[in-house]
Amino acid sequence: MDAFVIEGGRRLEGRLRINGSKNSALPIMAAVLLTDEPVTLRDVPDLSDIRNMVRLLGELGVMIARETDNRGQPVFALHAIDQSPSHARYEIVRTMRASICVLGPMLARRGKARVSLPGGCAIGQRPVDLHLRGLEALGARITLDGGDIVAEAPGGRLRGATLFLGGANGSTVLGTANVMSAATLARGTTVIECAACEPEIVDLANMLNAMGARIEGAGSPRITVRGVESLGGVDHAVIPDRIEAGTLMCAAAITEGDLTLDNCPLDALMAATDTLGAIGVAVDPIGSGDDPMRRTCRVTRPGGLRPAQITTQPHPGFPTDLQAQFMALLCLAQGNSVITEKIFPDRFLHVAELQRMGASLIRQNATVVATGVPGLTGAPVMASDLRASAGLVIAGLAARGETTINRVYHIDRGYEKLEDRLASVGASIRRQDIPAEPVAAG
Ligand code: EPZ
Repeated sequence: MDAFVIEGGRRLEGRLRINGSKNSALPIMAAVLLTDEPVTLRDVPDLSDIRNMVRLLGELGVMIARETDNRGQPVFALHAIDQSPSHARYEIVRTMRASICVLGPMLARRGKARVSLPGGCAIGQRPVDLHLRGLEALGARITLDGGDIVAEAPGGRLRGATLFLGGANGSTVLGTANVMSAATLARGTTVIECAACEPEIVDLANMLNAMGARIEGAGSPRITVRGVESLGGVDHAVIPDRIEAGTLMCAAAITEGDLTLDNCPLDALMAATDTLGAIGVAVDPIGSGDDPMRRTCRVTRPGGLRPAQITTQPHPGFPTDLQAQFMALLCLAQGNSVITEKIFPDRFLHVAELQRMGASLIRQNATVVATGVPGLTGAPVMASDLRASAGLVIAGLAARGETTINRVYHIDRGYEKLEDRLASVGASIRRQDIPAEPVAAG
């Protein structure tokens, strides 16, 4: 099992390009199920989650080839050539809960779908009740059978409806992707109230509209979809990954580095960069940049780190996917920071690991108070979920001595060759194969 071994204390200095967004690419790949025509996707990152989606779509009748364009960039060619297989099996879905986003497209195009219920994960239960309620509002008949969601569209086609998609914790990102995608082929008009406003939803809507869908309001809490008979092919470039960008900004900040980021979605990161400014980290755009989602910026930290108050919210609020990374950074701030997790109240598996490195953290339910310490100390720690692991990498970059992060397969789900990219800007980090320890009985 692979681990990262980090020797802390090195400044990050240099230039990196932000990769395409995992959380945009996954529902966008699933949307290929909505058309019989070929689709080309650019800037899809090479991650284990993406490879799992490729495997899943392959079982659902989609032919997929990974090519390289004339600029040497990776290009995915996808084509749903066989509409018959419609079962997303548990063996794949359990490895990646985002598989749920094949449900809406498959149901809308094929009139039926069988998708394993995704299990929970390290950050929480991860229910899909809102997905199912939304699709039922579009006329779907949904039952559960042997752990699978079995969905049917009466007469083979969904019908438009006005529906509320909010839950106890606010909007649902993949739930909005599922219902918005399904509504594109429904008979009539759909209004989704309390839709997720994340940039990934806007990216998906832009691609669907380029395929012939008629979606308005993506990025706002109310999305209107006028159903069409069919969708065509498209050539689409996935937006840059705002969470990868925010992660690298924290890495530069904690090492007092000087990092230039290309292809950076600054327009989707305002809550994060606003908080970084309050902490004392400068994120300065470079050049005019006609696309606010693909800017170049320079990240520096001229002085000490100031404490901050963070509460995670649906977009445009502070993203839950950056909570662990900012907590690592705030462990070294001069004063007390308060971090409240409103999206996944149990998303604190990184707290105990940061404490092993000398962080002073006190958790009360969904809130953690971080009291800044002069420094962290390297230690063996355990990765638990994708973003918690990224937080541990950030802490390890600044810790005195060596940090070993075990189970980095979590990181490989969402960060492409993270160790190589950090090493290229000065970090001392390497991947090491650690033989699995025999598990003690009892
Ligand atoms: C997406 O997950 C992201 N994943 C997550 O990123 C991200 O943390 C999350 O949105 C919130 O921003 C992908 O895009 C692949 P939700 P999603 O439905 O859509 C509750 C990462 O690290 N809820 O927006 O599954 C849910 O429990 C991953 O890249 C219901 O109650 O999240 C949570 O409290 C982790 N019922 C809240 O809504 C439902 O049917 C938001 O969840 C659905 C969700």
